[in-house]
Amino acid sequence: MTQDVYPVPQELCDCTLCTDEQYIEQYARSIHDPDGYWGEIAGTFEWFKQPTKIKNTSFHKDDFGIKWFEDGELNITVNCLDRHLKQGRGNKIAYIFEPDSPRYPSGSVTFRELHDRTCQLANALRQLGIQKGDRVAIYMPMIVDAAVSMLACARIGAIHTVIFGGFSAQSIADRVQDAQVKLIITADEGHRGGKHVPLKANVDQALKLPGTNSVETVLVVRNTHAAVNMQMPRDRWFDEVTRNQPVECEPERMNAEDPLFILYTSGSTGKPKGVLHTTGGYMVYAAHTHRMVFDLRDDDVFWCTADIGWITGHSYIVYGPLCNAATTVLFEGIPTYPDVRRTWQIIDRHRVTILYTAPTAIRSLMREGDENVKLSERTSIRLLGSVGEPINPEAWRWYYEVAGDSRSPIVDTWWQTETGGIMISPLPGATALKPGSATRPFFGIKPELVDAEGKTLSGATEGNLVITDSWPGQMRTIYGDPQRFFDTYFSTYPGTYFTGDGARRDEDDYWWITGRVDDVINVSGHRIGTAEVESALVAHPHVAEAAVVGFPHELKGQGLYAYVTLNAEVAESDDLRTELVKLVRTTIGPIATLDVIHWAPGLPKTRSGKIMRRILRKIAEGELGALGDTSTLADPSVVDHLVSTRSAD
Ligand code: WTA
Repeated sequence: MTQDVYPVPQELCDCTLCTDEQYIEQYARSIHDPDGYWGEIAGTFEWFKQPTKIKNTSFHKDDFGIKWFEDGELNITVNCLDRHLKQGRGNKIAYIFEPDSPRYPSGSVTFRELHDRTCQLANALRQLGIQKGDRVAIYMPMIVDAAVSMLACARIGAIHTVIFGGFSAQSIADRVQDAQVKLIITADEGHRGGKHVPLKANVDQALKLPGTNSVETVLVVRNTHAAVNMQMPRDRWFDEVTRNQPVECEPERMNAEDPLFILYTSGSTGKPKGVLHTTGGYMVYAAHTHRMVFDLRDDDVFWCTADIGWITGHSYIVYGPLCNAATTVLFEGIPTYPDVRRTWQIIDRHRVTILYTAPTAIRSLMREGDENVKLSERTSIRLLGSVGEPINPEAWRWYYEVAGDSRSPIVDTWWQTETGGIMISPLPGATALKPGSATRPFFGIKPELVDAEGKTLSGATEGNLVITDSWPGQMRTIYGDPQRFFDTYFSTYPGTYFTGDGARRDEDDYWWITGRVDDVINVSGHRIGTAEVESALVAHPHVAEAAVVGFPHELKGQGLYAYVTLNAEVAESDDLRTELVKLVRTTIGPIATLDVIHWAPGLPKTRSGKIMRRILRKIAEGELGALGDTSTLADPSVVDHLVSTRSAD
């Protein structure tokens, strides 16, 4: 098979942070001498107490544990803010704020201003009784105060848990209950794509649900100035509690292994799990990956289009760029509002040099044709990035040729909420690119492929992707459930971290991520657990059973396909279909919108009652000739029925 290879542009070789030779040499060092490598990187940060112990980790059952920089003491916000002020960068712009509607003016915040606002809120939180280790939920639109809220928590050692603004009241309640949240920071409403998102009303509804009594205070940012219900004394206006606070706030002294945040993410089973990241390792890894993968320069204008409700926003809108004193665009809206030219207009308006976005966004912009892109200049762009799902070569080429005018390298970055930062990615000045490949591992990362039995595979082949040794940004536990942490990630292939992804390694040792091999569906770059959707469906009184699988979707990457068995004597109807779609959206949030509901009088099960998802996936994909062996099914005729009732499109 002939493959396109895009070499490193000649002009980059002279001004890059890392050439190919340097990559090879430093990668080898990072693997053979992790203490030396990471100790040196850690030394470039500001610590109250420099760590002397660097790596202390094991993935094995008997001595399992993950600790990095364990005797170090620091505060991440000192690295994000104070350090830059001391170095005379107080007037550098930290955030360029671009509002949802282009009719409103954009704004900017310097590192000095960000420091002051963070300190004011941190002081207010302390006054409201929040202490080190308390959990604070953040349910906010994409505005500067969202970043300020995260930083203010980190300043005083409170553990933040950001809840994506698109999640429903039920999802908020689940997270609040699991983390025993004491305070929530929200806004009256958010603006998104010209619509108003009723954030405060959703919080109100969530706090009426059982298990949410831990919440003592709700801070409300006046964002749209819509009238909202303020329940005194629980609800307080953000501007009122921060206004008279001093602009200095003593940073809490944190051990490197003290928790920084919890972020909930979907897994194969049960409810979303609280991925816990700690302070020192996460900081070093987020910042170092951000600097190296984006080959950062002092005058860059970096735009990551993710929401801060996801890990990409945490690492590459907040902590990574701020640690590196980078200027970042913070965009409140969506790439297609008010029309499909918006992304390109923002790039020209703010002279964005690095665009980091998701394949789903690239595909939806590609669909609108090249003319919309060509109306813009995009001459400021020097680097493009992709994250969240595999990028198909067609979208890759369009991104490269049309969006980037065949000038800018693309970094296709593979990583996960659990990994804290980028794990497999090109480095722009070092790595020749192949469309669709995440290419090579980052420093310190040891990927391997194993077969279903856990046997290590060598050479050019395909298998399950595992990581065989720890890296500083790795999650430390599932909040409140260390056993689930071990079982989920370290028991499938003992001694390794199992990613849940499949991958292929080619003859040049390049990595190609093929997608999830577990029951997680990646819809537009968002992880959705089949179990969550199924439990939302069976909550309906007419539903007896449900099984949800992913299927290829042109824009979203994967779509949600639900097989639903109704209770006896309930008629299948379009009204019921609509009702079920709505039910899932309100239980989880609009990202969980079912694409297909297939009425299934029975589901294919083994004789021991296990649903055969492999067959359901094939039917959903329309691969009806490849159903494989159905003879072990309790009732093979169930499959024939599903095949004959599958809609033809
Ligand atoms: C997928 C997002 C292919 C993968 C940072 C992973 C990717 C899941 C890529 C994590 C990529 C992410 N190529 N697949 N460049 N990046 N994925 O936790 O399946 O929201 O396991 O983290 O997204 O999603 P999460």
